[in-house]
Amino acid sequence: MHERRPTIKSRHITWTESYVSHVERTARNGHRGAVVWFTGLSGSGKSTLSKLVEQELFARECHVYVLDGDNMRHGLNRDLGFSPEDRAENIRRVGEVANLLRDSGAICLTAFISPYRDDRARARALCGEHPFIEVYCQCDLAECERRDPRGLYRKARAGEIRQFTGISAPYEEPEDPELVLRTDRWPPHDCVERVIDTLAERGVLASPGGPETLPRGA
Ligand code: ADX
Repeated sequence: MHERRPTIKSRHITWTESYVSHVERTARNGHRGAVVWFTGLSGSGKSTLSKLVEQELFARECHVYVLDGDNMRHGLNRDLGFSPEDRAENIRRVGEVANLLRDSGAICLTAFISPYRDDRARARALCGEHPFIEVYCQCDLAECERRDPRGLYRKARAGEIRQFTGISAPYEEPEDPELVLRTDRWPPHDCVERVIDTLAERGVLASPGGPETLPRGA
């Protein structure tokens, strides 16, 4: 457990409910809000696949957006490094943002290594009963190192990057993800199709029967 113990500074605050219900948002969008959480080693295909899924869902007129690890670290999370505590805080913030986007009715795809089970479990817990779909991009470390799109594994092996996931920092595999993609064996197109199928099976997207197949009270 690497959770930072934040000093709670906000006091005298009250939660306020929206006048727009999830049922109304689902009816207008033609799909439910959801978080699709991609996890896996650097180079395992999280960013590429989440962007391909985003493109496919956008073509289907869904409200969809990707939160990407490298991008979020340019802005909201630029003050965080790669210690276990900083990664926990990274995932905590991303979990909150993803949950807000889901609450707005969007399908939020996240592409973060998110190496610790506890951190991922906390992100899932934020969504409560709403759809949270964990997608494990399973790829052998050797294949990630062979791909090494940004030369980071080479630098990590040379000792130029410390605490690098898979080399000098752990990756805890998901125990019960909604979906496992063998990204070292399956072509991207097949992986995208499996994500889309899972979204339909889980009632996020209407199945071929039409929008009335979306769960009521979503
Ligand atoms: S996480 O562990 O906190 O979830 P995140 O997904 O935000 O990581 O960022 C990972 C990206 O940061 C990698 O794809 C890589 O480009 C870069 N990076 C830089 N240093 C490290 C490191 N020590 N370990 C892993 N990734 C790193």
